[in-house]
Amino acid sequence: MTRRQFLLSSAVALMTPYYRARAAQIPKILRASKAKAQLAPAEYAKTDVWAFGETIPGTTLRIKQGETLSTRFQNDLPEASSVHWHGIRIDNKMDGVPGMTQELVQPKASFDYEFVVPDAGTYWYHSHNRSWEQMAKGLYGPLIVEEHNPPAVDRDELLVLDDWRLGDDAQISGNFGSMMDHSHGGRLGNWLTVNGVGMNEASLQVKAFERLRLRLINVANAHVFNLSLQGLKGWIVALDGQPLEQIQALGSNIVMAPAQRVDLIVDVVEKPGSMGQLNVISRGKQVPIFRFQVTGDQREKAMAQPRALPANDIPAITNLDKAPITELIMEGGAMGRMRSATYKGKELTTRELVQEGMVWSFNGVAGMTDKPLLKAKRNETVRIRLINNTAWPHGMHLHGHHFRQIHENGKQGPLRDTILINRSEQMEIAFVADNPGDWLIHCHMLEHQASGMKTWIQVE
Ligand code: C2O
Ligand code: CU
Repeated sequence: MTRRQFLLSSAVALMTPYYRARAAQIPKILRASKAKAQLAPAEYAKTDVWAFGETIPGTTLRIKQGETLSTRFQNDLPEASSVHWHGIRIDNKMDGVPGMTQELVQPKASFDYEFVVPDAGTYWYHSHNRSWEQMAKGLYGPLIVEEHNPPAVDRDELLVLDDWRLGDDAQISGNFGSMMDHSHGGRLGNWLTVNGVGMNEASLQVKAFERLRLRLINVANAHVFNLSLQGLKGWIVALDGQPLEQIQALGSNIVMAPAQRVDLIVDVVEKPGSMGQLNVISRGKQVPIFRFQVTGDQREKAMAQPRALPANDIPAITNLDKAPITELIMEGGAMGRMRSATYKGKELTTRELVQEGMVWSFNGVAGMTDKPLLKAKRNETVRIRLINNTAWPHGMHLHGHHFRQIHENGKQGPLRDTILINRSEQMEIAFVADNPGDWLIHCHMLEHQASGMKTWIQVE
């Protein structure tokens, strides 16, 4: 190579994003145990948590699309647990739902998970037993399924958002199962972390016009994040792991229900020496929870608009007119009109239900039902009308499938596995039931799930 050629090729190297696909990282053993994490500022004690791999968030799992994820879940907790792989269109027996797809994994016992990851995107895993308590203590982690041809970005970064309810001693406050939380908006915290780092300290060093892929995951029990970005411009490219057919320019805010993910491709548009921010919007104020410190120049101007990510192979929704509609009527909660509901086969008054820890119902039934909400033939199109007759928003999650909202005019929304339905709202969702098995559908505000909001569907 002549000197001139060398200069040219190194100049090109400087101009081109260098995103290197990281090697697959799947530990042979995924261990859940007690651990300590510095969630609060350094002058406070570390917080006692429950964690996968002794870190908050839990060990990041990375794997290539189409590969087989295989890991042994080792339960070193003082309580039984299981692992649910949220958003993965998974083989039913690996879905991690105790009493439905597997037995509880008792303390000191283990369970071998092995499944193919069919879709590229941003997913996560979490405990699916007593999740309102186990997840509030930290039992979750990111699961990244890499595209075979990842988009041209300089960096691929995770932003895992959680809120914690901490006491003055920086320990997790123990009032789990409070009926006040259950009947209102769920257990809301008083301390936010990004990637397990407190909101005053979480940061990343970036360069001017550096292009970042940001993978946001809301792992909070019940907190709906209303976010804004400052000093970064770009696009939403995927929701709940699934690429948008058309990337969408970032607006003034991003709303994320519990369990939802948003993938962004953004360019740093601040100058060296200044700072970009991820904010939560709280009572009209922008409160920074993550900072992007600009330390130099990556390039002279922003790169061109990115292309949409390659679509995953999910069947298109067809024959909508012929598909029957199943209603899912949500009732209960504070300021609700629920007078009674069936619980474990008995009709109970609201007062009797509260004694059982139940405050919400789906179609007049509180808690798990013997019969599924619906039975679908394989590859049948399923339509569900969600009717929120409560005074609260809910983040509804379907296991094993991604669905689309069907708007009044017939337009189909983006693929999602969790959708926010506001108080008194009604919406229709539809999907092709191509994944055989029994699948939960529940509110991902974990206190609502625990106190009534869950049912299931059966795909032949
Ligand atoms: Cu992420 Cu049944 O849950
Ligand atoms: Cu809910």
